[in-house]
Amino acid sequence: MTATVLITGCSSGIGAAAVRRFAEQGWNVAATLRNPEAARFEQGAGSVETFALDVTEQRSVDQAVSRALECFGRIDVLINNAGYGLFGPFESATPEAIGRQFSTNVGGVLAVTRAVLPQMRERKSGVIINIASLTGLVAMPLYSLYAASKYAVVGFSESLSHELAPLGIRVKVFAPGAVATDFSGRSMARTFDGDGGPYADSIRKVMAVFQANRAAGGASSSPEQLAQALFDAATDGSAQVRYVVGDDALAVMQSRKDLGEEALLAGIRQRFGLASS
Ligand SMILES: NC(=O)c1ccc[n+]([C@@H]2O[C@H](COP(=O)([O-])OP(=O)(O)OC[C@H]3O[C@@H](n4cnc5c(N)ncnc54)[C@H](OP(=O)(O)O)[C@@H]3O)[C@@H](O)[C@H]2O)c1
Repeated sequence: MTATVLITGCSSGIGAAAVRRFAEQGWNVAATLRNPEAARFEQGAGSVETFALDVTEQRSVDQAVSRALECFGRIDVLINNAGYGLFGPFESATPEAIGRQFSTNVGGVLAVTRAVLPQMRERKSGVIINIASLTGLVAMPLYSLYAASKYAVVGFSESLSHELAPLGIRVKVFAPGAVATDFSGRSMARTFDGDGGPYADSIRKVMAVFQANRAAGGASSSPEQLAQALFDAATDGSAQVRYVVGDDALAVMQSRKDLGEEALLAGIRQRFGLASS
């Protein structure tokens, strides 16, 4: 039987590349996105079907999952990919901006997982891959809300991996470093207007480091590399839970090992010019 993957957030970036990768490998793909009219996916050896899914709307989640199940009969692999970044000082974030960040990056993962889980439990098989971030393992400055949301995804995934292992379902969490997608462009919301007022100096310093990084070689992984890593994780048959992806992410995790927690945190403040006054 042809295996089926359901992926959220397929309009661009990692989600769109994952649709292509699984389709090329002959899988059925339930490609979900907020505006399916805009989607153009080539058919692979399997079948690619698009379904409208906004991860913040329970009714949309339930409808998309039940339509995908009607279409393909089962979902073997779920990839919770939809998400966006929120950059800027915590103090200037509105309650609405905070709510939206958490209802998308965390609530979306919970809602889609809850909708897909019963048929995996009944079959006693399945793989759930949640895309967190390196920022869900080591937090960078001015990303407090994004980091909190991705730490939540890591914690949720790790605990759920234990809970579902006896039921034959493997839960995995991805912690990619920088990936060359729309993430730092159209998918990056801000908590501040203008120059950020009392935080202007810190914002300027942090943005300068990120810009210098980009100028020095850009993002460390391509969406296609992430898609390949997702395909490998979905099919490796292993009990591995955490996947740190990208040379930049691996280097930060190695520094944590070499330096220890506090020295790593002090090094991050120093690198961004944010040592205490
Ligand atoms: N790029 C990076 O450097 C990086 C690093 C680590 C982790 N990540 C994570 O990777 C995931 C994918 O991001 P990307 O880099 O591929 O960026 P992207 O190209 O901007 O893709 C983000 C996707 O999420 C979708 N999305 C946002 N809100 C949604 C909602 N409420 N319901 C359904 N879909 C929604 C977007 O859809 P619309 O077109 O409808 O907005 C888009 O398809 C995110 O979870 C991100 O946090 C990215």
